[in-house]
Parts: sequence; structure tokens; C-alpha cells
Amino acid sequence: MKKVKVGMLSEFHEGKIKGLEVEGKKILIANVKGELYAINSMCSHEEGPLEEGEIDVKNCCVKCPWHHAVFDLKTGQAVEAPAEKPQEIYPVSVEGEEVFIEIG
Ligand code: FES
Repeated sequence: MKKVKVGMLSEFHEGKIKGLEVEGKKILIANVKGELYAINSMCSHEEGPLEEGEIDVKNCCVKCPWHHAVFDLKTGQAVEAPAEKPQEIYPVSVEGEEVFIEIG
């Protein structure tokens, strides 16, 4: 696993998703109630763009804009069909104002 800086804390707004490419992988960072979560943003169903999906703040999930599969941002698990396979997740850490993820 490699620790990679993905930006400054002020770039990740509460209730929003930001799509990034890190180490050749498409990922998203979601800010849910001030907590940051990083998961792979290429939907395990048919590679839809999860970074364009909707956040469900209450359940800490993201919904794919293509066929509405839902993934848990904490675990990456697919919690609603049609996706069955989980998304890869990446640990997030904040040091001062800098945001890092561990990816490998
Ligand atoms: S591509 Fe995401 S639900 Fe189909």
C-alpha cells in the first residue's frame, strides 16, 4: 500500500463527491457528515461512474447513476442490486489540512 496525497481538506465539501484518478485508478472521495471515505468509482456492475452518483447521508452509501446499485462507503459492499461485487475501498487519513489515501 502506498500513501498518496489527494488534496486539501477544504476541497472535499460536506455531502459531496469528488472524482479523482490516483495511481491509475478511478476513485471517489465522499464527505459524509465531515468524514471522508474513498472507494473505487468504477461501478462493479457495468463500470458506471459512481463519482456522478448520489450520496445517501443517512446510510453512508453512494448510488450508481446508471442502474442504481447502492454501495456502502465504509465497507465497499454492494447493498442494493444490480451490483453484486464490492468496490475496493481505501483508508483515508488527514494530516493538518492535507488528505491522503492508502492505495496499492
Ligand atoms: S453500472 Fe452501476 S449499477 Fe449498473
